Parts: sequence; structure tokens; C-alpha cells
Amino acid sequence: MGGTGLAILRRNAPLRENGRIGDVPHLWNGTFEYLAANPDQAVIFNEAMAENTRRVSQALVSAYDFSRFRKIIDVGGGNGALMTAIVATNPDIRGVVFDLPRGSAEASQKLADAGVAANCEVVAGDFFRSVPEGTDVYILKFIIHDWDDEQSLAILKNCRKATHQVSKILLIERVMPEKMEATPANQRMAMADMLAKAGLSIAQILAIPGLDISVIEAVRS
Ligand SMILES: C[S@@+](CC[C@H](N)C(=O)[O-])C[C@H]1O[C@@H](n2cnc3c(N)ncnc32)[C@H](O)[C@@H]1O
Repeated sequence: MGGTGLAILRRNAPLRENGRIGDVPHLWNGTFEYLAANPDQAVIFNEAMAENTRRVSQALVSAYDFSRFRKIIDVGGGNGALMTAIVATNPDIRGVVFDLPRGSAEASQKLADAGVAANCEVVAGDFFRSVPEGTDVYILKFIIHDWDDEQSLAILKNCRKATHQVSKILLIERVMPEKMEATPANQRMAMADMLAKAGLSIAQILAIPGLDISVIEAVRS
């Protein structure tokens, strides 16, 4: 991990530095290339992500007020599980699920099965190239922890580029303090550095009750 102090709990960061875990040499930076080449594994991965998201999305929707927004994009939104929960609870919201073609392959069907397809669209793309412009909220749930600091910064910059003046970027992650004392002030300090490099600043950090995840709400600096 680089030295920017983005204290998001990254997935097995020390192992990732070795480039391999056991006999699975594709992890970590190559995870999504591996999944693209192995569709069966991609289905399992997406289901695991969606199951986790189903468990936490109700808590998120209860804790964070999405009703004030008109259009929301879930960047790296997988098969649309979080968007389903948001739109089901806030039927006036228009939702965009943005992911790689492989990541979003099942999203249209899942959104239709949940009865929210009329409010949602699925857009395939690469967040290292660009992110669709002009929505009120850019959600990055369990995205930044997959990437090193340079890659994370590239994603955040592309999101910032896509925002309008009052858009919000929501990082939904497990957040660790850089210092051992897990005070809200330490968490805020630890997050601020990388966001500042992307031209963003923290508006609030909202801990989700009962879960070890937080919503880090960022806005244009
Ligand atoms: C850890 S999963 C999180 C999925 C979802 N946000 C959730 O919390 O359940 C990471 C997601 O990022 C997507 N992803 C990876 N690389 C991407 C890229 N370059 N552009 C867009 N999405 C990408 C993957 O397909 C996957 O759906």
C-alpha cells in the first residue's frame, strides 16, 4: 500500500503484495481479469458480493437518507443488489448500475426480478477510463479496498470528473484509523489525504449501526 493514509481496510493487503495466495496466482490486482476469463467463478464471486450487499443494504438505506436525491449511480455496482434496495425504498430515484461487462452481466435480470427495472439502467464500462457524468450521488461500495493507492486515486479522480457541483461521492467501506485509537477524528484525518489529492473533501463519516462499515460522504473541494 502506498503512503497516502487512506485507512480503508484493504483485502489482505500483505498477501496481495506477494501477488499470490496459495495456489491462486491471479489475486489480487488480477482478480477481475481472472473473473473475466472464468465466467463460472465470476458468477460465484458476484453471488458472494450480492449476498453481503443484501445483508448490509437494508442497514445502509435506513442509516443514510437517499430520498433527497433524484439520480444515483453505483460504480462497480455488480449485479445491482444495493441499487435494488435503494430504489425499492425510494421509488422516485433513478438508478444506474455501472460495472465491467462481466460484473454487470446479471444486473438487468436481477433488477427486473426485484421489480425495479423501470427505474434503473445498467451501463457497462471501466472506471479507470471514465464514469458516467451528471448524477447526484456516486456510490463506491467495497471498491477502493481492492486497489492500491495509485489505482484508487485514478478511480476517485474519474468519479470527481463526472460529478456536478453538488454531487456527492459515497465511499462505503470498513474504515480503520491510521492510529490505533479509533476516534472519529483519527478516521477523518486518515481519509482526508487521498480524497484531497482527487480534489475532494469529506463532508461526513457516518458509521452504520450494527456493522463495521461506514459511509464516507465526499464532495468537491
Ligand atoms: C468487491 S466487488 C463490489 C461489488 C458491489 N459494489 C458490492 O458491494 O457488492 C468490486 C466490483 O467492481 C467491479 N469492477 C472491477 N474493476 C472494474 C472496472 N475497471 N470498472 C468498473 N467496475 C469494475 C467488479 O466487477 C465488481 O462488481
